[in-house]
Amino acid sequence: MPEQILRMTGVTKRFRGVMALKDVHLELQRGEVHAICGENGAGKSTLMEILSGVHPHGSFAGDVVFEGREMRFRSLADSEAEGIVIIHQELAVVPQLTVAENIFLGHEVSRFGLVDEAATHARAAELLASVGLDENPATRMGELGIGKQQMVEIAKALAKNVKLLILDEPTAALGREDSDRLLALVDRFRSHGITCVLISHKLREVLGVADRITVLRDGAVVETMRADDPETDEGRIIRAMVGRPLDDLFPPREPDIGDEMFGIRNWTVVHPHDPGRVIIDDVSMHVRAGEIVGIAGLMGAGRTELAMSIFGRSYGGETTGEAFKRGERIELRTIREAIGHGIAYVPEDRRDDGLNLLASVQSNISAAALGRLATRGLVDEVRERKVAEAYRYKMNIKTSSVAAITATLSGGNQQKTVLSRWMFTNPDVLILDEPTRGIDVGAKYEIYGLINELAAQGKAIIVISSELPEVIGLSDRVYTLAHGRITAEFVRDDLTQELLMRHMAAEKS
Ligand SMILES: Nc1ncnc2c1ncn2[C@@H]1O[C@H](COP(=O)(O)OP(=O)(O)OP(=O)(O)O)[C@@H](O)[C@H]1O
Ligand SMILES: [Mg+2]
Repeated sequence: MPEQILRMTGVTKRFRGVMALKDVHLELQRGEVHAICGENGAGKSTLMEILSGVHPHGSFAGDVVFEGREMRFRSLADSEAEGIVIIHQELAVVPQLTVAENIFLGHEVSRFGLVDEAATHARAAELLASVGLDENPATRMGELGIGKQQMVEIAKALAKNVKLLILDEPTAALGREDSDRLLALVDRFRSHGITCVLISHKLREVLGVADRITVLRDGAVVETMRADDPETDEGRIIRAMVGRPLDDLFPPREPDIGDEMFGIRNWTVVHPHDPGRVIIDDVSMHVRAGEIVGIAGLMGAGRTELAMSIFGRSYGGETTGEAFKRGERIELRTIREAIGHGIAYVPEDRRDDGLNLLASVQSNISAAALGRLATRGLVDEVRERKVAEAYRYKMNIKTSSVAAITATLSGGNQQKTVLSRWMFTNPDVLILDEPTRGIDVGAKYEIYGLINELAAQGKAIIVISSELPEVIGLSDRVYTLAHGRITAEFVRDDLTQELLMRHMAAEKS
């Protein structure tokens, strides 16, 4: 008989204007991996924030019983004291601090009131080893890739003697390899009796690692299924999530490809702080009007650096090479210049380069094209609201109002807000960096439809994605990038995952 570790009953949570959770019932067994799936805004993060005390006792209705005792958490610290640790959708690391400092932030290893450096270092090294991370604890957090930062966060959870680990979309920002490593770790935790809740939009992953899956829709539980039930597959999860079957993951499209819209030749970019390191190496590529071009590469291949260097040198030190728009030489020295040439870049990390979370949804949407809304130098707020409403409808952004503060939107809906911003600049060349990160399957279909629509209007589109099925499903043509170089180019009909993988993993010559 499996032992129950947690029972949440009748959980109901209301935010101003939004009913986020309705009478939710959730039971977890000790040592299971329990996945929670649902559309953007379904209430997944909110449910876990209640479980971990982010939303304190009294701010919601219902009961939380952990290890047989009723819990009344007032803060994260309260739930941590019981062995419940949440790793949030948006990582909360401090890039300027070292790995060891990040791990022990708030509960330093001390002796006689002083931080014991040597002990901290040794304990951190031990914890890093336990998650299979071979890094010096003295390394600054900011120097690690996001996959490794994620592992450090988990090491940090282990330092707190975790019984129940909650991972909110831990692999959303990770490539295949990093994801597999993280999931293997979850698997190992299970064998040590640690219970794990995993929120993810990657259903293949969910089916690979979870014992049971609970699906939320509009704040209510639709069903809990066992992963080893022969009836359980991606189709069943999707039906439960969206309330209807979704037969195709990509909308149909008839490409109508015109002349070259944008291109770069011999594009070389060096590291911003280390002129000896070439990050983008002699890249030549182009995209035609009406064409969708994919860029596939492993983490660290230079995909984002390439895109940002094109977008007004927002990445890189010395940059050489030529850029062309409709066959004419253009300069792209600043972001303003790039926008002026009709280039838009939707960044991969919506927090760092994208949204102002404290501003309203409508001002985030209009931010990159205020000129289109200004009359006599003032932003026309009525028009701004109308535009935002139009995108809210088009992209199906779930919010109580376009005047709402962006931080109150669910992760996926924040992503849709960034996409809206750049669509509103009405660019000729749109560079999308991981456009569907954290977006649910149904909404992905809608976003692909919008990308197709833009291509049909004659825009040139470049899509960077770690999801190979996405690259293959969307692109007319694909470049593979490895170590900052283009290693191959394929047209739609030749595309297979194996072929792309082979050229993404090309050795450095
Ligand atoms: N602080 C808040 N204030 C107001 N509304 C909120 C707040 N936090 C969440 N919400 C609303 O509650 C609902 C559920 O949000 P939640 O973040 O739990 O969704 P989610 O299932 O995690 O979605 P995603 O897959 O996009 O991360 C959404 O409608 C969201 O806008
Ligand atoms: Mg969420």
